[in-house]
Amino acid sequence: MMFSLTGKTAFVTGGASGIGLAVAKVLAASGARVVIADLSDGAAAAAEFGGEYVGIDVSSESSVREALEAAVSRVGKLDVVVNNAGVGDIGPVITETEQGLIDKVTRVNHFGVMYGLKHAPQFMNDGGSIINTSSMASFINMPGSAVYSAGKRAVNSLTEMAALELGERGIRVNAVCPGYIDTAMGSGEEGRALCEAFTALGRPGTTDDVAGVFLFLASDASRYVSGESLRVDGGWHCGPTPRLLEKVIGTANVS
Ligand SMILES: NC(=O)c1ccc[n+]([C@@H]2O[C@H](COP(=O)([O-])OP(=O)(O)OC[C@H]3O[C@@H](n4cnc5c(N)ncnc54)[C@H](O)[C@@H]3O)[C@@H](O)[C@H]2O)c1
Repeated sequence: MMFSLTGKTAFVTGGASGIGLAVAKVLAASGARVVIADLSDGAAAAAEFGGEYVGIDVSSESSVREALEAAVSRVGKLDVVVNNAGVGDIGPVITETEQGLIDKVTRVNHFGVMYGLKHAPQFMNDGGSIINTSSMASFINMPGSAVYSAGKRAVNSLTEMAALELGERGIRVNAVCPGYIDTAMGSGEEGRALCEAFTALGRPGTTDDVAGVFLFLASDASRYVSGESLRVDGGWHCGPTPRLLEKVIGTANVS
C-alpha cells in the first residue's frame, strides 16, 4: 500500500522514451493517471499504458507553463511532477566547447528543471512529490562532459532549494542520479565497457532498474525524504572495482 498511487495524478517530462517512459509506465501501473510531456510526439506511447500526452519544450518557460495547464485540464491538479527531459550532448574539453552546445545543454538540462520547479507547484496539490532527473555526472566528473556535469550539479542544488521552499506545503523535492542507463542517450559499447570496469555491479542499468526508484520517491514510502539526490549508478561511486584494479596494477586488492 505504501507504494500505491491510486487516485493520484502525475506529469512526466521527457516521457516519450527512455527513462521517462519507463517511469510513466510504472507510475500508471501503480494507479496514477499519467500525462507525459515531450518535444517528440508521445501520443502512441501514452495510449499504450492508458496515459495522456502533451507537447512541451522544457527549454521554453512559456511552453512549460502551457504544458502544465494542458495536463491539469486533462487529469486535474497534479500530485507527482517528474522533471526528466534532458539531452546528453557531451562536448570536447572546456577550451574547445562551442557556444551552441553550451546553450543547448544548459537550456534543456538546467533551465528546463528550473522552469519546472518555478511553475509546477501552482498546479500541484499540497503533499505532492517533485522528482528531478539529475545524473551520476553531477558527482563524478568525466573529462569532456563539463557542460552536462555542471548542469546536473545545478539540478541537485535546485532540488535542495526547492525542497526548502516547498516543504511548508508538504511538497517533497528529490533528484535521481542515474549512472549509464541503456537508452538512446546512455547506450553503446563505450558505456557498457565503462560500466563493466567501473560499477560494483559490472553492468549498465536498464530503465526498469531506475524506474522503481522514481516510484519510491513519488509514493508515501519516501514520505520523510526531501532534498535528496539519490544515486542509482550500480555502485560506480563506491570507488575502483576489483576488475579495474586488476587491469591497472595486475591484482584485485591493494596490498
Ligand atoms: N541514459 C543515461 O545513461 C542517463 C544517465 C544519467 C542521467 N540521464 C538523464 O535521464 C533523463 C532522460 O534521459 P534518457 O536516457 O531517457 O534519454 P532519452 O533520449 O531516451 O529521453 C529523453 C527524452 O527527453 C525529450 N526531450 C529532449 N529535449 C527536450 C526538450 N527540450 N523538451 C522536452 N522534451 C525533451 C526527448 O524527446 C526524449 O523523449 C535526462 O535528463 C538525462 O540527462 C540519463
